[in-house]
Amino acid sequence: MTTLVLGGTGKTGRRIADRLTSLGLPVRVGSRSATPAFDWQDRGTWQAALDGVTAVYVSYYPDLAFPGAYDDVKAFTELAVRNGVRRLVLLSGRGEPEAQASERTMRESGAEWTVLRCSWFMQNFSEDFLLGAVLDGVIALPAADVPEPFLDVEDIVDVAVAALTQDGHAGRLYEMTGPRLLTFADVAGELSEIIGREITFVRVTPEEYVAGAVEHGVPREAAEGLGHLFTDILDGRNAGVTDGVREALGRPARDFADFVRANAHVWKR
Ligand SMILES: NC(=O)c1ccc[n+]([C@@H]2O[C@H](COP(=O)([O-])OP(=O)(O)OC[C@H]3O[C@@H](n4cnc5c(N)ncnc54)[C@H](OP(=O)(O)O)[C@@H]3O)[C@@H](O)[C@H]2O)c1
Repeated sequence: MTTLVLGGTGKTGRRIADRLTSLGLPVRVGSRSATPAFDWQDRGTWQAALDGVTAVYVSYYPDLAFPGAYDDVKAFTELAVRNGVRRLVLLSGRGEPEAQASERTMRESGAEWTVLRCSWFMQNFSEDFLLGAVLDGVIALPAADVPEPFLDVEDIVDVAVAALTQDGHAGRLYEMTGPRLLTFADVAGELSEIIGREITFVRVTPEEYVAGAVEHGVPREAAEGLGHLFTDILDGRNAGVTDGVREALGRPARDFADFVRANAHVWKR
């Protein structure tokens, strides 16, 4: 009855694996650094990761919106179900046609499925590609003045663990956002106020963003993919809040200001 947690060392997967383990449930981490290794780019690694597995948390890398993601998720899902997986929980993104194609794959899999269609994570500022920017005091992105309802990863973890371990979540698509819309300028303002250090937002062109990211060691392909997400998906299509966290858990989503207070130590200089 093992649960395979893909991206099991990443922002959501690490926490989900820890939580399942603390509930006494058998867990296998699926990532390139795990044993056995799981690599989305090497289908030869998938079978061993699925051995004895009955449930999977599916977190794709680098992003469900990137070209090729749908083919990978479809092939993986088919293999998983053939190997006896009965429950699938997919981490998806809002307003991304390629991600929505992967969601259909879950629905058509024949397994019990739950889709977590999530807005941008707050933890991108504390443990991912925007951490360095916050530490440097300048968030430079090709983002328009469009607000986004940033979501706390802890809420995703609570819903994912419930969907993996409890009844009542099968066949559900939870569209999950945080409780407030914030532009990147608002984010910089709230970070400054709570951390007590000035953090500014600067709008740059997509070309300037890619050049800067490459200079800081991000592979060009990944930098261009992120640039595309900022320019195409942050166009206002996701500028609304939803009630998915409450639907799944019966409580409201966590607020950005609470996230910043809880993580203030991360940005101390
Ligand atoms: N970040 C957001 O704001 C956001 C919002 C909505 C949806 N999403 C979706 O969430 C998913 C995960 O994104 P994330 O930002 O949260 O990343 P993440 O889970 O923090 O990414 C890192 C994880 O992916 C693993 N990984 C890296 N390359 C891999 C590969 N080739 N094969 C298998 N595993 C690999 C890493 O472990 P190893 O290094 O050991 O391989 C690590 O466990 C994406 O599909 C994205 O579309 C993200």
